[in-house]
Amino acid sequence: MLALTTLLLPTLLASASGRADGERPVANAATMQAVVASGGRIQLREVARPVAGPGQVLVKIAYAAVNPGDWKIAGSATSDPAAAPAPGADAGRDAAPSIPGVDGAGVIVTIGPGVTGYRIGDAVMLWSPARGTYAQYVAVAADTIAHKPASLSFAEAAGMAHAALAAWNLLIDQAQLRSGQTLLVLGGAGGVGSAAVQIARIRGARVIATASGANASYLRSLGAATVIDYQAAHFEDQLRAVDVALDTVDVDNAYRALAVVRPGGYLLSSVGLPSAAQCAARAVVCRDRTLTGTPPRIVLAQLADWSRAGLFRVNVDRSFELADILAAWQYSQAGHTRGKAVIRIGGKPCHRTVCRRMTTP
Ligand SMILES: NC(=O)c1ccc[n+]([C@@H]2O[C@H](COP(=O)([O-])OP(=O)(O)OC[C@H]3O[C@@H](n4cnc5c(N)ncnc54)[C@H](OP(=O)(O)O)[C@@H]3O)[C@@H](O)[C@H]2O)c1
Repeated sequence: MLALTTLLLPTLLASASGRADGERPVANAATMQAVVASGGRIQLREVARPVAGPGQVLVKIAYAAVNPGDWKIAGSATSDPAAAPAPGADAGRDAAPSIPGVDGAGVIVTIGPGVTGYRIGDAVMLWSPARGTYAQYVAVAADTIAHKPASLSFAEAAGMAHAALAAWNLLIDQAQLRSGQTLLVLGGAGGVGSAAVQIARIRGARVIATASGANASYLRSLGAATVIDYQAAHFEDQLRAVDVALDTVDVDNAYRALAVVRPGGYLLSSVGLPSAAQCAARAVVCRDRTLTGTPPRIVLAQLADWSRAGLFRVNVDRSFELADILAAWQYSQAGHTRGKAVIRIGGKPCHRTVCRRMTTP
């Protein structure tokens, strides 16, 4: 965390109406405000507005969500060869300037060729694996979006896609989690963990989750039967023979989880796994997230249906303005987001009463 924060400094967060990194300010219908990550720095800049290509829609973003991968990838975008990559960063992947952000929610303003099922003005929630949601507009494939349920605010819908798609891929596509099985979620209160607890509960699994004591009632409200306070106890001292464990914390938790999964069970992780030999020695199937499996549009439509039915929700922990992106990333780096942190771009401000409704379990 500290390494990344250092890496990002000095951060030039220039107002779009002012001078950005020596460039002349531009603002017209063909441009937009966006956060641009480049060379280990992030800036708010005026950039070209994307265009919806074949199979795409152009969405005016109301809210984008913060995911740890956003700052991990940007942290690796350094031109300083002496700087170490941030923990977990995919070194060298982000050499060219790019707009971070892999999910969000907003309103369709342009329909590209070949797109059916959507109209201009539709409110949607979206997954953008090519990134770009920390901006006023994003062009995104129509098969990675879903209509926003009226039951969700734009802020809530923005936090839906990336974390829940990861949880679905691991639990459903890979482990085929079934009714009656026991699932251990390590890091139950975060974005991936909150989605995993709810998906598992809906599938009829019994859920045990780890979190700090302050998040115990939140996790029970999502459907966890048991919450283990990781600050007070070691989960491996209390559990044996769980069918599936999902680690969202760190690889140390994954090693410890190997001891509590039954032979033939699954150890899933969004943060790294023990070696294949170590998994094999305990007869545990170890899997990390893949981009195969159920198509995103099917998953997002299912999540939307569950939300309409009151079965699935996104807890908006904090809302930041686009110009406060560094504060948003520092909040995420601290590692205690309950549900999701979001960035307001074009949506209505998160008024105090609405924020309270959204953050109270
Ligand atoms: N490969 C992929 O496609 C993919 C996709 C999504 C996410 N990821 C990765 O998966 C990880 C989790 O993502 P996320 O979005 O869920 O992160 P997040 O929302 O930032 O997770 C924060 C949560 O972690 C919990 N936590 C921190 N330390 C803990 C510990 N020792 N034991 C239990 N819980 C702990 C916190 O709970 P307390 O406040 O109670 O401590 C907090 O609720 C990240 O590293 C992310 O990069 C990978």
